[in-house]
Amino acid sequence: QPIKAFRCAFLDFVDDPFYVAEAESIRYIADGLLVVENGKIKELGHYQNLQDKYAEVPIIAYPGMLIMPGFIDTHIHFPQTEMIAAYGEQLLEWLNQYVFPTEAKFKDKAYAQKIAAIFLDELIKNGTTTALVFATVHPQSVDAFFEEASRRNLRMIAGKVMMDRNAPNNLSDTAETAYQESKQLIQKWHKKERLLYAVTPRFAITSTPEQLNLAGKLLAEFPDVYLHTHLSENVNEVEWVKQLFPESQGYLDVYDRTGLVGDRSVFAHGVQLTDAEFQRLSKANSAIAFCPTSNLFLGSGLFKLNKAKCVEHPVKLGLGTDVGAGTSFSLLDTATEAYKVAQLQNQKLSPFQALFLATLGGAKALSLEDKIGNFDVGKEADFVVLDLRATPLMALRNSAITPTSLAELAEQAFALIVLGGDRAIHATYIMGEACE
Ligand code: GUN
Ligand code: FE
Repeated sequence: QPIKAFRCAFLDFVDDPFYVAEAESIRYIADGLLVVENGKIKELGHYQNLQDKYAEVPIIAYPGMLIMPGFIDTHIHFPQTEMIAAYGEQLLEWLNQYVFPTEAKFKDKAYAQKIAAIFLDELIKNGTTTALVFATVHPQSVDAFFEEASRRNLRMIAGKVMMDRNAPNNLSDTAETAYQESKQLIQKWHKKERLLYAVTPRFAITSTPEQLNLAGKLLAEFPDVYLHTHLSENVNEVEWVKQLFPESQGYLDVYDRTGLVGDRSVFAHGVQLTDAEFQRLSKANSAIAFCPTSNLFLGSGLFKLNKAKCVEHPVKLGLGTDVGAGTSFSLLDTATEAYKVAQLQNQKLSPFQALFLATLGGAKALSLEDKIGNFDVGKEADFVVLDLRATPLMALRNSAITPTSLAELAEQAFALIVLGGDRAIHATYIMGEACE
């Protein structure tokens, strides 16, 4: 793949704006040149400084647009694409009424393939270039997903759901089959091309202690695979977990005792976590996927952003759309709801903090900051071309073409977050190649 370059405005993060001054955390270049070679970042700088050096290189220009790193979704379910917007229930009833009947269809590999293709097209349309993804209990649903991700050259993490109790028979495995099937999938897919595997027990309610122990065994056998599950989402769920695991200190402790709490563990939700659990997650260097649209839609509650992003016990944090409990594939929409969740608790999520969570923060949550998340040299060139004036309303709101201060940039970025959705995604690039 020959060398090429993109001329545009660029915004990415070099540090965490929750912990350092925003001006030091962002890199904004109003007229920049991003040079890509073999799908990786060769250089990013001011156009003026680089134009001579790369005079022979073909330039793709996006005047008036803004290029950011591809968005990272740290928790989503591809089989739930078709049941998004399921009316009227909270978590446990919603699972029985809507999710389980839908997931049963993924026994059929061809069906799984069809939905995986639609799902990945939807991610790309929303500027999402990497996601941590639940499949279903069926190994063939994982094959279907990874085959479609491979076809698009995407960096994706996924895994087979493990579920051996409190689930319908046609969606249940056993502790042993879950272990064996997961192991085979790891051997088949983990680190193949850009694909990575996550051991994926659904949540504590649907796994026996034996199954969770075997999930822990897999993590011990394959130290660089991920652990992906749900944690402390809903009050009734937490109560049921206490009854199922009376010897445990709490929900997180169920996972801790089975060896599932480590630096490659990603826990979705965490709405009901105690202070001690936040501290344990910090100590273990585990990550939380904050899923605001889902937490609001299922009535689960308000995630305590300030507990995760505190100075004393910082927890790695990303944003998750959690489709189909989440109501949008867009990480811009998701960031808007995260902002509102903070507002309801008299907390603040700044525009740059929100965009950090959707990019470098997500990469850190997925332990992928050496590969994606910003435009550092050598990283994979997955990026999104954003149109800050994609609609008449956005054009009115963001009428100034070039922001002249950090405050003006923040204001434009906030309007992009709140008003943008999928309309603002002008183009999505994977390894330096435009999608479609
Ligand atoms: N907890 C267990 N399974 C699920 C699921 O599919 N979605 C959500 N939001 N929470 C869960
Ligand atoms: Fe989920």
